[in-house]
Amino acid sequence: MDKALKSVLEWWDAAGVDVPDVTLSAPKRKAKPRPTPTQSQAPQNPRPAPAAPKPAIDAAPIAAKAKTLAELKAAMDKFDAGALSDSARQCVFARGNPEADLMIIGEAPGRDEDIAGKPFVGRSGQLLDKMLASIGLTEDDFYITNVVNWRPPKNRNPKADEIEMCRPFLNRHIELAAPKVLLIVGGVSLSAMTELTGIMKQRGQWQTVTVAGKEIPALPIYHPAFLLRQPVLKKDAWRDLLALRIRLQA
Ligand code: URA
Repeated sequence: MDKALKSVLEWWDAAGVDVPDVTLSAPKRKAKPRPTPTQSQAPQNPRPAPAAPKPAIDAAPIAAKAKTLAELKAAMDKFDAGALSDSARQCVFARGNPEADLMIIGEAPGRDEDIAGKPFVGRSGQLLDKMLASIGLTEDDFYITNVVNWRPPKNRNPKADEIEMCRPFLNRHIELAAPKVLLIVGGVSLSAMTELTGIMKQRGQWQTVTVAGKEIPALPIYHPAFLLRQPVLKKDAWRDLLALRIRLQA
């Protein structure tokens, strides 16, 4: 793809604009035989975007069976996530303290996370850790995962059907961790967790996400990868972090 076009698309994408999926020019893989779609229940909140396609692979019964986070991780490690499992090294489950009040929801693992098997360990994760440290939070004070747990090829954004496939896992993950506050990191997570789009407008605006019947306050913030490219926006991020600190102390 043309370099200038790629950089414009990345910029829009980071800013939360719904970018057409033109980055997917990678050679097509031979598809493994996959289970056919089922009629299983739609998962509860985080709510699907209105036109979200039904996932071809149904994770709901597997997620529902997991009674602990350890069981959920074990089930996800074994799960065949279709094309994502073909390209990713492993399932990237979570890091941090599952007992923490704060649960952070990122987008999807990148290359570093795919290698390490832990979310947010690359450059943007280091910035996120620094941002959290600036309001006094260490890894003991938060628990962090992603909307999609397998690295999409070439670090592209997760597609709608991939988000839907992972949604039962995300819902169960949140239900089992039972955080008091959610931090929604980036535009992809925003639209996956709420019916909202446009992180530029929605950052810093508290939302309520309902998971398994429980309402959880949720704050959308800029993705640290976006802040690495747009450091001038760190002042907005700082404001959002202060709002988060106040909520956590309340
Ligand atoms: N970006 C994310 O959204 N999640 C990660 O785990 C890494 C980078």
